Amino acid sequence: MGACPATPYCQDMADTLQIRYGTTGAEADLAITDATIKAPELRRFVIDGEPLATYDPGFMNTAVCRSAITYIDGDAGVLEYRGYPIADLAEHSTYLEVAWLLLHGELPTASELDGWEALITEHRMLPDKLKTVLAGFPYDAHPMTILMASVAAFFSFYPDAQNFTDPDARALNIARLIAKMPTLAAFAYRKGRAQPYVTPDDSYGYCENFLQMLFKKAERRYAADPRLVRAMEVLFILHADHEQNCSTNAVRSVASSGNDLYTSCSAGIGALHGPLHGGANEAVLKMLREIGTVDRVPEFIEGVKTGRARMMGFGHRVYKNYDPRAKIIKKSVEDVFEVTGVNPLLQIALELEKYGLTDDYFVSRRLYPNVDFYSGLIYEALGFPPEMFTVLFAIPRSSGWAAQYQEFITDPEQKIARPKQIYTGARTRCYVPMDARS
Ligand code: CMC
Repeated sequence: MGACPATPYCQDMADTLQIRYGTTGAEADLAITDATIKAPELRRFVIDGEPLATYDPGFMNTAVCRSAITYIDGDAGVLEYRGYPIADLAEHSTYLEVAWLLLHGELPTASELDGWEALITEHRMLPDKLKTVLAGFPYDAHPMTILMASVAAFFSFYPDAQNFTDPDARALNIARLIAKMPTLAAFAYRKGRAQPYVTPDDSYGYCENFLQMLFKKAERRYAADPRLVRAMEVLFILHADHEQNCSTNAVRSVASSGNDLYTSCSAGIGALHGPLHGGANEAVLKMLREIGTVDRVPEFIEGVKTGRARMMGFGHRVYKNYDPRAKIIKKSVEDVFEVTGVNPLLQIALELEKYGLTDDYFVSRRLYPNVDFYSGLIYEALGFPPEMFTVLFAIPRSSGWAAQYQEFITDPEQKIARPKQIYTGARTRCYVPMDARS
C-alpha cells in the first residue's frame, strides 16, 4: 500500500492578492484562501459601469465548491477517494465498500459493510410499474436514454426523495439508487435483445448479480468466472467518482434549484452520455475499428495531427500525466483476456499508445491515455455491445453523484447555480412590424 502522510493537502494561506485597475487607479486587496480568491470580491472594481467578473467557459479555472470526497493531482497523476489512493482501493476493496467510503468518508467496519450490503440487496428490485415505462421504449433505444428516463421516473415512485434534508430519507434514496442501477441497466440491455428480464438474485454479490441479470440464459445457476467478477468490481471502483467533472457538475447544478436525488442524477446521466465524457470508450472502439489494422496507425496519427481526427481515449482536462485509472485498467485488460482470449483491437490500441507517448504532438500537449482508452476493450471482451459502455460507467458513478449530491445539499455555502454571461447581442431596438420585415 502507498505511504499514508497525515499532512492536509491545502492550507489556509491567510494571504492577499493586490489588484490595481490602471485606468482609475482603484486598488483592492483580495483575500486568498485555499489558493483561490472569491470571485464576487472582484465586483469592487467597476469597469465601464460593469462590475468586474471572470470569463471562464468550461470552468477552466474556477472552483465551484469545497469538497472532501475526491482528490486529483492531474500533473502527478494522483487520484484518491477520501484520501485513499485509487490503486489501493482497486486492489483491496469491493465496489460497495468504496461506495460507502465515498458517502461516509471512512471505510466501513465489517458490521457496517454487512448492513450496507444487506440494504443494497434489499432494494435491488425495480418498481413493478416501471416495467410499463420500459415497455414504451423502442427496441433499439439507446440504453443510456432508458437509464436517464427511468432514473428520473424513480422520483414518481419514491417522492420521499424530496425530503432531502432528512438524513434518513436521503440515505434510503441513495441506497435505492445504487441498488437499482444494475437492475435497470440489465433490463435495458435485455430489452434491446428482446430477451426476458432476469430478476435480481439475493445469493449473488453486487457485481455477480449484475452479470447474471445480463447474461443468464436457461442454465439452472449462472456462474461467472471469478476473474471477470473481480475485473467488473475494479472497473466499478475506478469509475465511482472523479470530483467536479461534467456530469457531477450537472448533478450539483440541477440539485441547486432544490431538486431530489433522482432528477439530479438523471441530469448526470445525460451529461455522461456525451462522447467527450463517458461516451468516449464507445468512441475509442469505433476509432480502433475504423483504423482496422496496425499498419494504418501512422496514417491515423497524421490525421490527428492535422486536425482531421481526434484520438479518442486520449487527453483529459485535469490529467496532464498518465491517468492513474488507465494504468489499473491496462492491467485488468490482461486478466480479462486470460479468460476471454485476446481482442485483436488491442494491438492497434498499443500501437496508438506508443505514438501517443512519444510523438511531439501529444507530448507537447501533455495528452496521455485516459480511463476510456482501454475500458472499451474489456467491456467488449466481457460481451457488452458498445451502447452499453457508458451505462457501465453510469452504474458506479451513481455512488459518486450521490456523495456529491449529499455534500452539496448539506453545504451552507452553496447557492442556486447561475453563471454570468457577457452579452454580445443587440440592445433596445425598435420593434419591427411583420409587414416591414425584409
Ligand atoms: N486528440 C487530439 N488532440 C487533442 C485531444 C485528442 N484526444 N485532446 C486534446 N487535444 C488537443 C486539442 O486539439 C488542443 O490542441 P491545440 O492547443 O493545438 O488547439 C489541445 O490538445 C488542448 O485540448 P483541449 O480540447 O483544449 O482540452 P480540454 O481540456 O478542453 O479537453 C477532453 C479535454 C477530454 C475533452 C479532450 O482531451 C478530448 O476531446 N479527448 C478525447 C475524448 C475523450 O477521451 N474523453 C474522455 C475523457 S476521460 C473520461 C471522463 O472523465 O469523462
